[in-house]
Amino acid sequence: MLLITGATGFIGRHLVARLVAQGERPRCLVRDLRQAANILPADKVELVQGATTQPSTLESVLQGVDTIVHAAFMTADRKQSEGNHYEETNVGGTSNLILAAKAAGVRRIIEVSGLGTKPDKPGSYMQGRYLSEKMLIDSGLDWTIIRPSVLFGKGAPFIKGLVDLIQTAPVVPLIGGGKIMFQPIAVDDVVTVILKVLQNPAQTNRKIFTIGGPEYYSFSQIFDLLLQATHKSRPKVYAPLPLVGIGAAVMEAVLPKPPLTKAAMALFSFDNTTDLNSVERDFGFKPQSFKIYLQTQGL
Ligand SMILES: NC(=O)c1ccc[n+]([C@@H]2O[C@H](COP(=O)([O-])OP(=O)(O)OC[C@H]3O[C@@H](n4cnc5c(N)ncnc54)[C@H](OP(=O)(O)O)[C@@H]3O)[C@@H](O)[C@H]2O)c1
Repeated sequence: MLLITGATGFIGRHLVARLVAQGERPRCLVRDLRQAANILPADKVELVQGATTQPSTLESVLQGVDTIVHAAFMTADRKQSEGNHYEETNVGGTSNLILAAKAAGVRRIIEVSGLGTKPDKPGSYMQGRYLSEKMLIDSGLDWTIIRPSVLFGKGAPFIKGLVDLIQTAPVVPLIGGGKIMFQPIAVDDVVTVILKVLQNPAQTNRKIFTIGGPEYYSFSQIFDLLLQATHKSRPKVYAPLPLVGIGAAVMEAVLPKPPLTKAAMALFSFDNTTDLNSVERDFGFKPQSFKIYLQTQGL
């Protein structure tokens, strides 16, 4: 039995759709059954209520589970709130899941992490993501870690955030000068990678796969593509990182869904890229081009 955590999330719901299309019936750990039934094909999956942050819910959920795809994380673009803390979810939740998985006889966990995950200041968002990987690596379970660059595809959070900004702001901010590089990868391609990892346990065990699309784009070039796709023209203004940090802190304090959080600023401190042939080399297929996707399918 396969269990998916974070099944209602952006990657999770695409993964569930593909598994169901293949005739599988995955078990999905969800926090809110009613909400999940609106997002997932409830009659074709096994919905189980629980939370990684509530260890008491995990024992029954893991009965008979062999493999877990773990995608229940609090991503940096989300503002922390009651019951949704980076540390509590990403570190505590993963630790609870690993302990419960070992107790239940689960064999293998595939973690959907993020490109650039590395040790950082204690208590920081990035350090939490690093610890969530390290705990799995040290767990004694079979593991695979997938670290994608930013994602595109219908409803992709990173792209949606930038499009919302284009739609609502008179200017677009080139954070840190707009020079940081990204390697957008289609959510469907990330799902294909997860499926291939699921199908090939021996070849993918104890490996970290860092994956990106077939092209690099600077943050400024991504804005150009999105301005083109939305048929808008906006002046691009240079936004120095410290100033953006202050803006993000203010927005987080006053807005329920801020367009930028302090934690998401971490994405702008390094190039979000890996080898251009990472997917073809490790998984044998060519991922979609972001530019061609926008031209053929729009936003
Ligand atoms: N999206 C991207 O562009 C991108 C790029 C690179 C890497 N990634 C990585 O991919 C992974 C998945 O990202 P995503 O974009 O799919 O995230 P997402 O859309 O924010 O979904 C997060 C999922 O986690 C669930 N969740 C949160 N806290 C939970 C808890 N305590 N117990 C159980 N479930 C909980 C959420 O459930 P609710 O529905 O109940 O909130 C939701 O299903 C993350 O590690 C992320 O860093 C994403």
